[in-house]
Amino acid sequence: MVKSQSMQPHRIPLLVLTLWMSACSVALPSLPDRTPGVSPPISDTPSVPRPSKTKFPSCEPPAISFPQTTIPEFPSPVQTSSPSDLNLTLRKLADQRDMYIGAAGDASQYSDPEYVQLLTQEFNMIAAENAMKWQVLHPEPDRYDFSAGDALVAFAKIHNMAVYGHVLVWDYGYPAWVAEGNRSRDEWIQLLCTHVKTVANHYRGQIYAWHVVNEAFENDGSLRKTLWMQAIGPEYIAMAFQWAREADPGALLILNDHFGEGLNEKSEAIYALVQGLLQMGVPIDGVGMQMHLWLWGPPTSQELEANMQRLADLDLDVHITEMDVRTQQSSDSEEVKLAAQADTYRKVFAACLATQRCKVFVTWGLTDRYSWIPIHTGHPDAPLLFDENGLPKPAYFAIRVLLKNP
Ligand code: G3I
Repeated sequence: MVKSQSMQPHRIPLLVLTLWMSACSVALPSLPDRTPGVSPPISDTPSVPRPSKTKFPSCEPPAISFPQTTIPEFPSPVQTSSPSDLNLTLRKLADQRDMYIGAAGDASQYSDPEYVQLLTQEFNMIAAENAMKWQVLHPEPDRYDFSAGDALVAFAKIHNMAVYGHVLVWDYGYPAWVAEGNRSRDEWIQLLCTHVKTVANHYRGQIYAWHVVNEAFENDGSLRKTLWMQAIGPEYIAMAFQWAREADPGALLILNDHFGEGLNEKSEAIYALVQGLLQMGVPIDGVGMQMHLWLWGPPTSQELEANMQRLADLDLDVHITEMDVRTQQSSDSEEVKLAAQADTYRKVFAACLATQRCKVFVTWGLTDRYSWIPIHTGHPDAPLLFDENGLPKPAYFAIRVLLKNP
């Protein structure tokens, strides 16, 4: 969750992290190419990649046979567009450029035929907004409930869309029992390992990319004092990547964060961390830039491109993973706000297109009706590409023009 900047950071000096990493330093393995195919079938996960040099303790996922999930009936899309419009959908244009264009959501929204129509027409990827969070998938110590995630995956399969898995390790979105009880460091490691491997193993072969670790940093570039950081130490990050690779060798493994999109203390820290992880042989495949932005003060195009390119130069993918642009707290007219919003989307999308390793662009929701922002801020907002009624906004056309004529 995006936290207010007033929260107190916990400074784990980068120096300590760097020393820890250099103590384990090993040669960098070479990477085969894994450009995604056009309009990939769900099972077409990329051929992978970096061998994991196991250095951390691991675990076996529990030998539980999970009950078969009942997949809900999804309504068929209602075709309302003319064939000429269909040649100009974001999905069609993204397919032609070997790109993924995605929207986050939950299967509970898929009972609305118009929503289904819009989602499947315009996008070739869905991201699990909440369905794969710990509190949903693993509500009790010995009970997993994969029904919400399975429904999402089944929907994607029906509509030939890729699935972005969110999230294996985060400091939010876990049930109370996780934080309770006295555990030794080894027991914490076993707890986290078992969760990561059980979930990644359950969805093995069905997930294009996983947010393995989400929001590990404070905005000043110090490591966030997460539950996992306190219980295990900074190694929890490398461990999680190792476990995820062991459980699903076909999924891209991504470190995801917000406010580290431009050039600042946080993006420096992210860069230093991933560089160190790569030197250790930790199987990380890319960095996710969440891109939760406002109408004012977003990073410049130059900063965005420079940051994306330096990560790409490390042989990492760069994904835009949760983009939305808030329009609240502006006294401008609706028209002016939507034009400014379109400019921001245009700038970010153009930076992604300019970076060869940026092949994934996901917005955090489909229409303004279902955005998390009004709920979270208590104020009306319109942060996405489609309005409350599912109609395309200027931001949609800004992206479409770029996809068509970069
Ligand atoms: O599903 C329950 C429902 O059963 C219950 O009655 C209701 C009462 O509060 O809550 C519902 O769950 C809510 C869930 O969204 C689904 O609507 C949770 O309370 C609420 O906390 C949750 O918020 C999500 C938030 O992460 C926290 O997990 C937002 O939808 C989701 O958009 C947001 O996404 C995060 C990313 O995971 C990480 N990056 C930042 C991004 C925005 O904060």
